[in-house]
Amino acid sequence: MSNFDQIVKLIADDLSAVEAKLTEQTASEYSFVDMAVQHVVEGGGKRLRPILVVLSAKVCGYDEGRDAHTLAAVVELIHVASLVHDDVLDEAAIRRGRETLQTKWGNKVAVLVGDYLHARVLSMLVSRRSDDPAMAVLADTTQAMCEGEVIHAYKSGDFDISEAEYLKIISFKTGKLIAASCTLGAHLGNPTDTKQIEALTVYGQQIGTAFQIVDDVLDFTEDPDKLGKNAFGDLREGKLTFPIIYARTVCNDDEKQLLEKVLNPNTDETEAITFVESLFQRYGVEAHCLEVAQDYADRAKAALTGLPETPARIALEQLADYVVSRES
Ligand code: FPP
Ligand code: MG
Repeated sequence: MSNFDQIVKLIADDLSAVEAKLTEQTASEYSFVDMAVQHVVEGGGKRLRPILVVLSAKVCGYDEGRDAHTLAAVVELIHVASLVHDDVLDEAAIRRGRETLQTKWGNKVAVLVGDYLHARVLSMLVSRRSDDPAMAVLADTTQAMCEGEVIHAYKSGDFDISEAEYLKIISFKTGKLIAASCTLGAHLGNPTDTKQIEALTVYGQQIGTAFQIVDDVLDFTEDPDKLGKNAFGDLREGKLTFPIIYARTVCNDDEKQLLEKVLNPNTDETEAITFVESLFQRYGVEAHCLEVAQDYADRAKAALTGLPETPARIALEQLADYVVSRES
């Protein structure tokens, strides 16, 4: 059994309760709305963010009295809503092995289902205590995710985007919600220990960046069936991601010019893929990106050193490595 499967087993009861919350809290009495919503809510995925809420709560001494499952469902729903909208932006056809909403029912349905999920998130948060920090944390997080995606969209045609600018974008669009999952879990455990909350927030931010770098690599290297989405999606769109930004900085001038040309969506797709693959081989791009991702994972693990050495902490350390070694 892989480490990831063992972690899922360790908190299996919590995760079943989260699944039940997800279905129950997003149900609509209108059958088409319900069908479209459940198509994405029950569309699988690793449930990484709920896992982080639960483990962060446990490592901080969670007393079961506060509702971890609602918060875990809330972060997953923010994530699902952001993917539904991201797939509209990216014109993606497949997600989690299923047709995307806009492929099945069009952009209008996809945008509205994303909005519906946000409305459910607000309602679930309102039903919690009024002194709950979750509202503020998630309002800031959602804002940063939107900012990250807007800057990314704005910069999408910019071949000269720097590595630092790109890292900032991904720390917003992906890192913030993963960090918030850990922050909120820590609040559920020991809300007064700010050191624990800060440590878990740093942990989440670091694995979030590692997660997105690996996501960028998998787009070039992984089998689409395992990935549950089409491969080379970023390249097809002419999107500059971490591997391309690195390749651009290490290749020679002729290759750089050709790289800029093949990133133009009008270039023949096979030509673009063949060239980029040859560049990746020549400069060891995959290995370099995975090393950078591992550095982030190591920093994440280092942030946990002050926390008690419980099974939950070991699981969080293993999750940091899983984020880098995963194949989907
Ligand atoms: C996937 O990135 C997308 C994200 C991690 C964030 C999406 C955020 C928004 C659409 C902003 C709006 C968000 C909210 C909460 C209102 P990707 O395209 O690199 O990954 P992919 O290959 O999985 O599509
Ligand atoms: Mg996308």
